[in-house]
Amino acid sequence: MTPPLRPLNPQFSSGPCAKRPGWSLAALKGACVGRSHRSTEGKARLAEVIERSRAILGIPSDYRLGIVPASDTGAVEMALWSLLGARGVDVLAWESFGKGWVADIVQQLKLTDVRTFESDYGRIPDLRQVDADRDIVFTWNGTTSGVRVPDGDWIKADRQGLTICDATSAVFAMAVPWDKLDVVTWSWQKVLGGEAAHGMIALSPRAVARLESHKPAWPLPKIFQMSKGGKLIDGIFKGDTINTPSMLAVEDALDGLRWAESIGGLPALIARCKTNLATIAAWVERTPWIAFLAEDAAIRSPTSVCFTLVDPWFTGKPAADQAKFAARLADLLAKEGVAYDIGSYRDAPPGLRIWAGATVETSDLQALFPWLEWAWGEIRK
Ligand SMILES: Cc1ncc(COP(=O)(O)O)c(C=O)c1O
Repeated sequence: MTPPLRPLNPQFSSGPCAKRPGWSLAALKGACVGRSHRSTEGKARLAEVIERSRAILGIPSDYRLGIVPASDTGAVEMALWSLLGARGVDVLAWESFGKGWVADIVQQLKLTDVRTFESDYGRIPDLRQVDADRDIVFTWNGTTSGVRVPDGDWIKADRQGLTICDATSAVFAMAVPWDKLDVVTWSWQKVLGGEAAHGMIALSPRAVARLESHKPAWPLPKIFQMSKGGKLIDGIFKGDTINTPSMLAVEDALDGLRWAESIGGLPALIARCKTNLATIAAWVERTPWIAFLAEDAAIRSPTSVCFTLVDPWFTGKPAADQAKFAARLADLLAKEGVAYDIGSYRDAPPGLRIWAGATVETSDLQALFPWLEWAWGEIRK
């Protein structure tokens, strides 16, 4: 017997993430399409994304915020390529995206004064090892392991180096200490459920000073260039994008931001994520076959929640079979139309990953739990 209730919205993917409650294509009807993004109207929409994002996130007024190409990856890589090389770098990684930034720094940029601090899925390196007088590169919330940094206390306020933080699964869901972060990046397709395409980059005054004083030892493609002749390209931070953005994606980003404001801004977004995580934790507590991949609650993500399957029936199987069974569980729920895209990330330990960010309704998670239990029974048959 399948459970009687179904989630109203079966979207639990960790990116692109669920649309905000009540979203439909009608949200895009006022989009500035078929027009130049450099027209007065086009630029106004782009500037509006910047200003609404700044207001909701409480970004300090002396930080620059811009819309950049190629989603969060574009934003992180333009920061790495533009800013690194002036000092030694400490880079932290505990899942696949962070490991990607390590590869960029070591294999692509070929920096030699690099200290890498890595840990396995579900854990975090000892943050006290970093030296804030070097540049620090890290991910606030590791989407593929469900592990986040607990806070920014490990970053010195009077640091000499820059902190470059990939915060794509964190902003709009967790409090971020802006004074400890010099570069913060994210994409529209995460916590507010926007359309994928563009990234955002926030720069502290010290990051701007580095951009204006440091000339990288490698060529910079146009798509990464934030300064010209030793001066910041100011327009990028007012909606004058480097290249052509999708105005449909822009409209959708505005829709997400307006929704965030309508429910009470950042405190409400954070509260929704916390409630979702607490609801999941209560279910995990009473469900013997599943556990959080992040055992330590202090580093557990409230957005990309990752699970391992701990039942001896499962753990006793060879690794390849474990992966097959976990995938079957996720497939079964997708076929039933109750949960899409909840398989763990391809490089992560076999298990499940459920997005519980601000656009996900707690009632949909509650409706999903009996289905997870049903699917667990089915795959064991
Ligand atoms: C932590 C993290 N960094 C980077 C990315 C890449 O983001 P995008 O595909 O928006 O470039 C993701 C995507 O899920 C992510 O979760």
